[in-house]
Parts: sequence; C-alpha cells; structure tokens
Amino acid sequence: RTVYLNGDYLPETEAKISIFDRGFLMADGVYEVTSVLDGKLIDFGGHCVRLARSLSELEMQNPHSDAEWLAIHRELVAKNAITDGMVYLQVTRGNPGDRDFAYPSEDVTPTVVLFTQNKPGLADNPVAKVGFKVISIPDIRWGRRDIKTVQLLYPSMGKMAAKKAGVDDSWFVEEGVVTEGTSNNAYIVKGNKIITRALSSDILHGITRAAVLRFAVEAQMEVEERAFSIAEAQAADEAFITSASAFVMPVVEIDGASVGTGKPGHIVARLREIYLDEMR
Ligand code: PDD
Repeated sequence: RTVYLNGDYLPETEAKISIFDRGFLMADGVYEVTSVLDGKLIDFGGHCVRLARSLSELEMQNPHSDAEWLAIHRELVAKNAITDGMVYLQVTRGNPGDRDFAYPSEDVTPTVVLFTQNKPGLADNPVAKVGFKVISIPDIRWGRRDIKTVQLLYPSMGKMAAKKAGVDDSWFVEEGVVTEGTSNNAYIVKGNKIITRALSSDILHGITRAAVLRFAVEAQMEVEERAFSIAEAQAADEAFITSASAFVMPVVEIDGASVGTGKPGHIVARLREIYLDEMR
C-alpha cells in the first residue's frame, strides 16, 4: 500500500512515527473513516465537518482545509486503485520529544496519517441479507464520546466480548438504555417509526446517522430521537445499526432474543437501499 504521512506518499513500510508521538503515548488524536464506492468518496463533506469539530474540541489545529483533505483522499484512492473500500485518516497532537501530560506548545505540528483499505464489493456485503447478532455490555467509556478520538480500547473489548459470545457486535448500555454499538449507532423500528438516541456527548454523532434520518423523513417514515432499553429493542419490529463502513445493517438478535421475525425486515432493507442509491 501507498500511505500518507505528513505531506508524503510512501510505501507503508517506510512510514515511521516517533515513539514520543502523543497519539501513541496518550491516545491524543482523532480519526475519520470514509467509505469509497465505485471510486467515489461517500459523504466526504460530513466527515470534514466532524473532523474539524473533534480537533477544535481538543484544542488542536486543523492542519488542512477541506479542499486539501479532499485532494489527499483522492490522491490516495487513485494511487492504491481503490474501487470499493475505506480511507482512514488520523491526526494526533504530534511529537513533543518527551512524555508530558500537558499539551505541548503550538509549534509542535500535528501528525497526519492516512491509509486505504481495499474492500471489493463493500456495498454488497452478504451479511446485510442475514443481519447482525449483538449482545449488550455496560458502557464504561469516557464522557466525551462525541469526539472521535483514537482511544478505542473499550470498543475493542466490546468486539472481543461479541466474538467470544459467537455474535457480531456489542451494544453499550448505560443507565438501563442503549447508547450505541462498538463502532456504530443503534436504532429500532416500530411500525413506520425509526427510534434512535438523541445527539449528546453520550454518543458519536454519526455521519451515516444524519443522512439516514434525513432519508427516512423524506421516505415518509417517522423519526423519534430518544433512548430505548434492550427489552424494548428485543420487542421491536426491526433493529439496525449505521456506520460509514457498514452503511445500514439489520440487527436480528439481541442477547439471544430474536428481533421481529429474526430475519432482516423490510423497513431496514428499504433504508439501506435508499442510502446506497442516494450516496453513490
Ligand atoms: N466508527 N459510533 C461509534 C462509537 C463509532 O465509532 C462510529 C464510527 C459510529 C458511526 O459513525 P459514522 O456513521 O460517522 O461512521 C458511531 C467507524 C466507522 C470506525 O471506527 O471504523
């Protein structure tokens, strides 16, 4: 692979970062994942807006304009001949040359890393026909989940808990209600109504979430932004998750209980189809 590091396009084996980089020592960095379908970046504008917000919440300078970010993404997609896949972007607070809890001065420049992941047929993922199974686990992450930081250890533990239980993912539960999935936003469907948690610092403000809710309203579905419990989700007609890499993915089992018929339902299938049609 050709990767991007601080202005250079390099073979991945030649891209090297300091051991003092604050991304490495402190998880002091933010990231974005943008899908590519047929060579086209999906909802790139949304990812740029969220990146700028994550950086600003952490008092980090944005090293590039949106136009520059777009040019780097396009160059990397071209250099790696990506038709379907993802572009991963990470900005850390850089290398102050030593370990210190205090942020370094402004003249320490951020470290910028981008790489591609090739996923042929990403939009035709056969799992979308079968659906995800999830388990629930306590949400013990920090309180600023709206900032897309690279501190992903608990989400990784959640993914491993799911694997050990023989399912696809975990849904986080806090104070009796679902926050979100390990790397996706969570929804249930009741009749013609889509129910998902309202935006706050308790969840990541999904770029796919914003688009899907807009399309749902346009398709005459109802949208209710409120929290729901695992019991309510198990009793719902349908359930699903959204993310930049999974798009809209049905959830058919929660903590061993089937949702609806136990097969992907028609509302979620329709939302997935609309999303892919509109964004491609
Ligand atoms: N994850 N919630 C969490 C905790 C996430 O990590 C993500 C994204 C989402 C969905 O956001 P979006 O629709 O903007 O992708 C919600 C990315 C895909 C990842 O970590 O790979």
